[in-house]
Amino acid sequence: MQVFVYKNEAEVGKAAGMIVASEILKKPDCILGLATGSTPIPTYQEMIRMNKEGILDFSKVRSFNLDEYIGLSPEHVCSYRRFMNEQLFDHINIDKANTHVPCGIGADHEADAKAYDAAVEAAGGIDLQILGIGHDGHIGFNEPGDEFVSGTNIVTLTDMTIDANTRFFEKREDVPRQAITLGNRNIMAAKRIILLATGKGKARAIAQAIKGNITPKMPASLLQVHPNVQFLLDEDAASEL
Ligand code: F6R
Repeated sequence: MQVFVYKNEAEVGKAAGMIVASEILKKPDCILGLATGSTPIPTYQEMIRMNKEGILDFSKVRSFNLDEYIGLSPEHVCSYRRFMNEQLFDHINIDKANTHVPCGIGADHEADAKAYDAAVEAAGGIDLQILGIGHDGHIGFNEPGDEFVSGTNIVTLTDMTIDANTRFFEKREDVPRQAITLGNRNIMAAKRIILLATGKGKARAIAQAIKGNITPKMPASLLQVHPNVQFLLDEDAASEL
């Protein structure tokens, strides 16, 4: 595991954007694993800038997002599909048919989870996975627990995650209680992972993920055994290292 510390979130975004660019230049039809939330937004802005300036071509790129809320349709203003369209896909020359976000409104969530696993595998696996981290150490929506979960699964969000995500909704009661998320096996199978963290609120989780024991109680600690992972942090997120 490598740890890089930058002055602020804009610098983290630039560094992550460069890593994405190098992946696409190396393999124009690469598979990107994408995250939602506030942290990757500066990275997505860098990707948009490079596309608009003609430096980066997304026409052959394929993507799989980590997660989606159970119960929110793709059109819902707080759905992760809508977030990805608005924050990234609508602004770059990616073919939307090549972008995948788990389905949160199917009749059979378990079947949807299996189908998502199969789609990732059929595509050849994720080349570069972008991760954020929850205040409780979750990656994707894999919350702290007693076991590491394997493939795509349905999770119940912790109170801490519901609190953190309330800012995207009108009120706390509107935050869905469940999500469908790629599991730890899918994330660990990515050929390269970059975990982005910015702000003081992430400092404790970052310190535990990097220096603590490897335990499902701190899901991001599993990354310690991944052969190609970089943590890109701002000074605040690195402040307890
Ligand atoms: C989002 C995701 C989550 C977020 C995490 C941090 O797709 O998988 O793990 O990365 O909750 O969210 P922000 O960046 O909003 O602090």
